[in-house]
Amino acid sequence: MKKSIRFSNSKVDYFFDENIRSLSKIADKKNTILITDENVFRLHEQKISSWKNVVISPGESNKVQATADGVISQLIEMGADRSTTLVGVGGGVITDLTGYVASVYMRGIPFGFIPTSLLAMVDASIGGKNGIDVGLYKNMVGCIRQPSFIIFDASFLKTLPDAEWRNGFAEIIKHASIMDASMFRKLENNDLSFYKQQKSDLSELIRRNVLLKSNVVQKDEFEKGDRKLLNFGHTLGHALENQYRLSHGEAISIGMVRASFLSQKMTRFDEAERVKMLLEKYGLPVHMDFDRDKMIDVLKMDKKKTKDAVNFILLDSIGKAVIQPIPIKQLHRNI
Ligand SMILES: NC(=O)c1ccc[n+]([C@@H]2O[C@H](COP(=O)([O-])OP(=O)(O)OC[C@H]3O[C@@H](n4cnc5c(N)ncnc54)[C@H](O)[C@@H]3O)[C@@H](O)[C@H]2O)c1
Ligand SMILES: [Zn+2]
Repeated sequence: MKKSIRFSNSKVDYFFDENIRSLSKIADKKNTILITDENVFRLHEQKISSWKNVVISPGESNKVQATADGVISQLIEMGADRSTTLVGVGGGVITDLTGYVASVYMRGIPFGFIPTSLLAMVDASIGGKNGIDVGLYKNMVGCIRQPSFIIFDASFLKTLPDAEWRNGFAEIIKHASIMDASMFRKLENNDLSFYKQQKSDLSELIRRNVLLKSNVVQKDEFEKGDRKLLNFGHTLGHALENQYRLSHGEAISIGMVRASFLSQKMTRFDEAERVKMLLEKYGLPVHMDFDRDKMIDVLKMDKKKTKDAVNFILLDSIGKAVIQPIPIKQLHRNI
């Protein structure tokens, strides 16, 4: 099913419930180069190898300028020019890096995505934020530029490790918590193994999350207001991820639980326990003893900080989030 979404200065075609084979209908084989990582290439070689491709090492540590330089050298060798389309086939590392390289190569060439992790399908591939990490600073360099198309092919998920399924569900539960109470209830009534087995429910869940995030981005592509709500659980989550060995999903899960309990103190919210139970149901951690002072030091450096307050995303009810600046002094007592 095709659905076109308009952003401020571009249009993105989403192909839901599709197969990577349909890429040949959208892109011309001669002028298309797939960018993927070694894991995805090894597990899905037959889907990828008939296309020109560039394969990079997997993992967040490779989402850096040196990798972008390597890809650019290969593109030059392969004779890529302004008529070339780059297609990122992989998780969020690949989609972020592909969008970034495509945005700077020859001052910008077209690109598309075939996200292969649940997280990339429901989150990273949507919204046009591309970029790389610099040292400890995640996504420090990059731009906002939309892909021309995204093909959703859930058959890739057959090989996705369990830990990556849980990471994807952390973002899905985030979307439900901040903007979709009925999806929250549906998630409460099911579990991970249900979605792994029920293809049509999984496709419907992916589509709903894609459209929820797209809707927020459409209203606020350049993050002046509502797009910030997508940072629910991320303020503390990023600080935890930075200091401890946690996956992104684990870190934001703990962050969402803390933000939910903080909401109970600051807004009329009274269902933090429900958020915690849902995350637990999907195999995510909900508590951690962390060094509070160290965390507050990291929060003080956060990009989302204004003067002496940190902008926290809180819940007003399940399905509705609000942004609230919280003075650093107050944080000492509350997180
Ligand atoms: N641009 C955005 O708006 C946005 C939003 C959220 C996250 N992100 C970025 O996304 C990244 C995280 O995404 P991710 O979790 O997909 O990371 P990832 O790309 O590192 O993928 C996670 C792991 O799963 C593997 N993998 C991917 N698809 C697979 C499959 N089908 N079968 C088996 N293994 C597979 C990868 O090789 C990797 O080892 C981070 O860099 C984050 O900053 C970007
Ligand atoms: Zn996230």
